[in-house]
Amino acid sequence: MERVKTGIKGLDELIGGGVPEGSSVLVAGSCGTGKTIVSLQFLYKGALAGEPGVYVTFEESKKKTITQCQQFGWDIEELENRNLFDIYVVDTDDLDEVLANIRSKVDKINAKRLVIDSLTMMMEHGTIYRSRISKEVGKREKEKVKSRFPMKGFEVTRRDIYAVVGEINSLETTSFLVSEAGDGGEYISRDTISEFACDGVIQLTINELGGEIEKLLSVRKLRGTEITMTLSPINFTKTGIEIEE
Ligand SMILES: Nc1ncnc2c1ncn2[C@@H]1O[C@H](COP(=O)(O)OP(=O)(O)OP(=O)(O)O)[C@@H](O)[C@H]1O
Ligand SMILES: [Mg+2]
Repeated sequence: MERVKTGIKGLDELIGGGVPEGSSVLVAGSCGTGKTIVSLQFLYKGALAGEPGVYVTFEESKKKTITQCQQFGWDIEELENRNLFDIYVVDTDDLDEVLANIRSKVDKINAKRLVIDSLTMMMEHGTIYRSRISKEVGKREKEKVKSRFPMKGFEVTRRDIYAVVGEINSLETTSFLVSEAGDGGEYISRDTISEFACDGVIQLTINELGGEIEKLLSVRKLRGTEITMTLSPINFTKTGIEIEE
């Protein structure tokens, strides 16, 4: 199996050298845990190594993304000029259009890496997709009039997320999908489903200890890989982040 280096020092060592090529990894955490930085570093380091990457954002402007990268000395504009990096700031809530645009961006630079920031926003903003799904619900309600299943909404969401992750997998890029975390408890993502639909899960958390706040990373799952499950502190350096052993 080919492995793709995450570009985050200390992380590849926990996952047998890198994530399996073509896999989709959920990067889950609550606000400010470092999801965007982890994902941008994955793209930046990949691009430096000659693997083009596309950053899809629902949340940040292009300018903010460039600034966030500059603090670590990552010149993404220069990589963009060399067709090693592209950024797509989503400006439509038509999910079919979003997916088509991602595909054309990926094809254009022959991207090997992809980041969606965030999958949570993508699912919440997919209005056309939703209306199509609700037609499906109507159909199912007719078919199963006597169904006692009380969680139709939940069932639809699950199918919806699996369908979108399936579309992303069909791009054959190695993908980091950012996900907003729930409020603790037994689920990793707020939607409670994404972690099952993806091949891997990197969880980012915050630990408060004696007035100090520590950011932590743990690999929760990675299909086809023996992983070391630790809660590892994230260190910020001048050139990016690294994971403490
Ligand atoms: N150079 C740095 N040194 C220390 N901490 C930093 C540095 N740069 C950013 N941070 C921390 O990283 C956090 C932002 O990381 P990032 O934007 O990746 O989080 P996020 O999980 O994507 O947040 P959100 O959910 O709001 O999108 C900030 O809260 C900040 O505290
Ligand atoms: Mg972010």
